[in-house]
Amino acid sequence: MASPPSITISNLCKRFGNQEVLRNISFEVPRGQTYCIIGGSGQGKSVLLKHVMRLLAPDSGDVRIDGESIVGLSGKPLDEVRKKMGMVFQESALFDSMTCLENVSFGLTMHRRDLPAREIERIAREKLRLVGLSRVEHKYPSEISGGMKKRVGIARAIALEPEILLYDEPTTGLDPVLASSIDELILKMKAELHVTSLVITHDMNSAFRISDRILFLYNGKIHFSGSSREVRETTDPVLGQFVRGETSGPIPVIVGEDL
Ligand SMILES: Nc1ncnc2c1ncn2[C@@H]1O[C@H](COP(=O)(O)OP(=O)(O)OP(=O)(O)O)[C@@H](O)[C@H]1O
Ligand SMILES: [Mg+2]
Repeated sequence: MASPPSITISNLCKRFGNQEVLRNISFEVPRGQTYCIIGGSGQGKSVLLKHVMRLLAPDSGDVRIDGESIVGLSGKPLDEVRKKMGMVFQESALFDSMTCLENVSFGLTMHRRDLPAREIERIAREKLRLVGLSRVEHKYPSEISGGMKKRVGIARAIALEPEILLYDEPTTGLDPVLASSIDELILKMKAELHVTSLVITHDMNSAFRISDRILFLYNGKIHFSGSSREVRETTDPVLGQFVRGETSGPIPVIVGEDL
């Protein structure tokens, strides 16, 4: 029998109070592929990604990892599933009281008790090197730039070499050269480790470069799903306006109101 998709989202609904954020979202990410989620600010991209880690529970619908539903899991079974995943948070979410090296080592120390401390440190150093940050090992998050924090977050997410990587805006706040190097890292993780990735991004160049498929979230639904080429050549007015960053079209522009 064919192996199940790495990530399966079925009929996912989530509301906060009377705000319906996700309205019947369904898609699956096949093993080893990279899917990007694009969409405007506040459209529910981070909320969707947090459901994949089961940091949020849906009101209805299902999330399966390697075919196993995680919606009803807690405690040790949930920890076991989470070990398969690494997440790069939008706000980096580093521990302020730990150095960068300690932040990257943290998951290894918790989950790889079989490894000696020296080996854990070697792996953490190697991951910091991969994101180009060997020099900040002993610095604290408050002593480095926002872009560096983002890269420490990536090093931490890949430290356990998970099968699934979830990235929430990994290139936002990085200069164009660094942004391209993160894209290359995502491509390398796919080519060498066959990682499945779900990447939220506002950076269309990055989405076009790394995606096997792009999902466009709008009004709580997957409004469009297609290849980079299909997105580039779209005749859909909403997606077209979003991709080209136009201020006139069906997407309301709220500057000057409501602020
Ligand atoms: N824990 C929460 N409690 C209440 N409302 C929430 C919570 N988390 C998110 N929301 C709301 O859900 C909506 C979607 O938020 P989300 O963070 O997913 O947006 P986003 O698409 O990631 O936006 P951005 O591109 O700005 O990061 C927002 O209106 C937000 O205020
Ligand atoms: Mg977000």
